[in-house]
Amino acid sequence: MADDGTRDRGKRPPVRSDGGAKGADDVALDPWGASTVDDYRKLFEEFGIEVFEDVLPRVPSPHYLMRRGVIFGHRDYRPVADAMAADEPFAALSGFMPTGDPHIGHKLVFDELIWHQERGGDVYGLIADLEAHAARGLSWEEIDEHTESYLLSLIALGFDPEDGTLYRQSTNREVQDLAFELGTKANFSELGAIYDFDGETEVSYMQSVLTQMADILYPQLEEPKPTVIPVGPDQDPHVRLARDLAGRMRYFGVTEAYASFELEDEERELLTLAFEHREEYASDPELPRCEEAAFWIHEGASVPDRFANETLLSTSRKLENAGKEPLRPRVRFLDRNATEEAFEALIEAIDGEKRVYEGHIDSFDLDREAAEELAREVEIEHGGYGFLPPSSIYHRFMTGLTGGKMSSSIPASHISLLDDPGDGYEKVKSATTGGRETAEKQRELGGKADECPVYELYAYLLANDDDEFATEVYDECVGGERLCGDCKEQAAELMRSFLEDHQEKREEARELLEGLDLELESDRR
Ligand code: TRP
Ligand code: SF4
Repeated sequence: MADDGTRDRGKRPPVRSDGGAKGADDVALDPWGASTVDDYRKLFEEFGIEVFEDVLPRVPSPHYLMRRGVIFGHRDYRPVADAMAADEPFAALSGFMPTGDPHIGHKLVFDELIWHQERGGDVYGLIADLEAHAARGLSWEEIDEHTESYLLSLIALGFDPEDGTLYRQSTNREVQDLAFELGTKANFSELGAIYDFDGETEVSYMQSVLTQMADILYPQLEEPKPTVIPVGPDQDPHVRLARDLAGRMRYFGVTEAYASFELEDEERELLTLAFEHREEYASDPELPRCEEAAFWIHEGASVPDRFANETLLSTSRKLENAGKEPLRPRVRFLDRNATEEAFEALIEAIDGEKRVYEGHIDSFDLDREAAEELAREVEIEHGGYGFLPPSSIYHRFMTGLTGGKMSSSIPASHISLLDDPGDGYEKVKSATTGGRETAEKQRELGGKADECPVYELYAYLLANDDDEFATEVYDECVGGERLCGDCKEQAAELMRSFLEDHQEKREEARELLEGLDLELESDRR
């Protein structure tokens, strides 16, 4: 996205979402902070979040939040989209801290979960009660009250608890055990650096991070499968850590190599290039020698300058040390956490030419993908989890109805799913708009739908699946045919009936919820 929230590339989306965010350049991704994300573009550049639009064509009949760019980013969503399209197993999971009433921001995530469930996914909704207790200091009484309310809304919006899974962190022993296990792969300095923890940070608070890591990997406990975590971008640090931990738990790592020594990623890139250029320097291109490749790097004539000096130095040093050893592409299995048995079994299972070393095995006939698959298979057969790195999708935060950010501490800025329908109506009627000072100006210049919280309500919620309606509101607004008074009246009416309907469905959901094997009242004190 460009600064103004429009797309950098490609055509204009059929329906615009909000105007994106302007203002501060700083992006703070703080899972517990009050931050809004002020510049989504930075998320792509600095944090490596991918643009959702790029994966959109692979998604079978995408959700309107995807079509409208409300879901704007992702990490590694491709495997999930592909599994969905191929009717293969996949999962979706998200968690909610029961710190207040569920509001229309939570509805985005509820809808995302429900949509994945309707597409055949194995879907989990969890109540992050341990986190609410440890990170926010809520009492168990407060937590119980909100827990029920979140679950009622999730079910009322269409989640099928018989097909999917609902749980509370505090009563899920498997999650807590997995959290403990994952804790063997993370240390204090790392958590400190990611979350700004210091010597004063309570231990339970840290433990709640590991609990979330376990939540995220929980859908894969029985078998590995592509799993998406729909969340706001503030949760990205958690997703990145979970992806790392998933890898650290694996029995084997699979990399590519060219000789017996180990390579860093940059070095591997350089050596791949050196191998491709072997005709230029090898006296026998069928059998290029390490020292010859080192010479090519020293010469530098065909080495692109994107490589850091250190990379050039370290790579050629490794090559020189290997001397006359031939360069031969291979895939390498690294022993990370494998039992001796599993390591032996992997050696057995590798077809074709292979060479066994102290903590790794080189295979000359397998390609990378086949090697990954084999490593996972052997791991699972020998009691490992074989986790796939979890994926994520990120939605934009809604602008507050009073302008600025939507905040649960400013009731007029947001709409709770429990708001009295009449109050919901009034809040929309009093919302800030992107309208001009006078009706004449509005007719002449058109409204600024891209900066209008009311338009956002249409796009994120009120227009529902009806793109035509959302587009109509947008076009009429910017074309000057729509005036804010009428527009808000229409939105306010829609909000009133949405709330009425939702609250009725919540009452109907009560029985279903009570019939579930879910502790609504905690034993904890
Ligand atoms: N930390 C999340 C929040 O602040 C809640 C949460 C706990 C969560 N476990 C999760 C979110 C797993 C996504 C996936 O709201
Ligand atoms: Fe917003 Fe509607 Fe006014 Fe346009 S007409 S600025 S969408 S309230």
